[in-house]
Amino acid sequence: MVATPIRVTITGAAGQIGYALAFRIASGAVFGPEVPVSLSLLEVPQAVRVAEGVAMEIHDCAFDLLTDINIYDDPSKAFHGANAALLVGARPRSKGMDRADLLEANGGIFAPQGKALNDHASDDVRVLVVGNPANANAAIVAANAPDIPAGRVNAMMRLDQNRSIAQAAEYAKVSTAAISRVTVWGNHSDTQFPDLFHAQINGEDTDVFTSDMDWYEHSFIPTVANRGAAIIEARGASSAASAAAAAIGHTREWFNGSKPGNWASVAMLSDGSYGVPEGLMCSFPAVSKDGDWEIVQGLEINDIARKYIDASLAEIVHEREAVRKLGFIR
Ligand code: NAD
Ligand code: LMR
Repeated sequence: MVATPIRVTITGAAGQIGYALAFRIASGAVFGPEVPVSLSLLEVPQAVRVAEGVAMEIHDCAFDLLTDINIYDDPSKAFHGANAALLVGARPRSKGMDRADLLEANGGIFAPQGKALNDHASDDVRVLVVGNPANANAAIVAANAPDIPAGRVNAMMRLDQNRSIAQAAEYAKVSTAAISRVTVWGNHSDTQFPDLFHAQINGEDTDVFTSDMDWYEHSFIPTVANRGAAIIEARGASSAASAAAAAIGHTREWFNGSKPGNWASVAMLSDGSYGVPEGLMCSFPAVSKDGDWEIVQGLEINDIARKYIDASLAEIVHEREAVRKLGFIR
């Protein structure tokens, strides 16, 4: 029997991340070698021609799993029947724009996309927001998609988690595969808190990282939290292939389940866990079971961790208030 294709929508498909992402999804890197993929690409009208070029190249790969690929400039059509939606397209910050302008421009994108997902996507849709400011944008999508269960709209923190693992592995002189149980809490911004207090090496608890608080607080945390800016400074453009790899890792784990004994960093609407006010789009440690994230409970949060988490929460609250004032959420 031929399996039913999974319908995947990528927004901003003509951009840098979209270009790195679409081919890998079409190749089966996310949903596995048995699952056919139907791709929908959403772009703004002026970038549709570029998206057509991307689609031509994907076509030329002759991916066995790809059933069809369609390009839209209308969210209601692009999200029709979507089982997975990766919201990458966003308005970047341009010269003279402050954060409020950025929130306003992106609210104008993510509020209608949230409504379109609510009205046209499949009932089982899972939505990953990559476009920045990712947590605020995801909060706007969730507020405009009341029929989508709260935990099924995520903002991407996987890149921050991967950056943390890479830095920690280098410090401990082990492979990245040896490191587990890393959480990045809070906002996808420089207030994020990469938490190594519960990290393990080869499945064992370790104080290798937290016994050197000078390294941890003055090297590790700032390096991870400012990595996006460092890449922009070096490349003249924001991270793209690493962001696409992170989106793939997040979505694959969401659909296929977490590895036993490990967890992921996932920004989703808070249920009040760890003292995070209910309804804030905050990153938590979470495991995926049967296609849904469950927040890992019972971790001890020491005073140092609390201080960092609270600073990031203050920023999330501030951004939510700004978005509320602009009328994108109630
Ligand atoms: P890009 O400018 O190369 O591409 C963005 C694309 O989105 C463009 O093709 C643009 O036409 C499209 N777009 C804009 N508005 C749209 C809309 N309303 N509907 C559909 N498409 C639309 O940018 P990029 O490098 O691909 O990055 C995309 C976003 O991802 C940016 O906001 C960036 O800051 C963010 N980002 C997030 C993370 C993360 O970890 N969460 C990491 C890296 C980048
Ligand atoms: C990243 O973390 O690389 C990006 O979110 C940075 C940015 O501002 O685009």
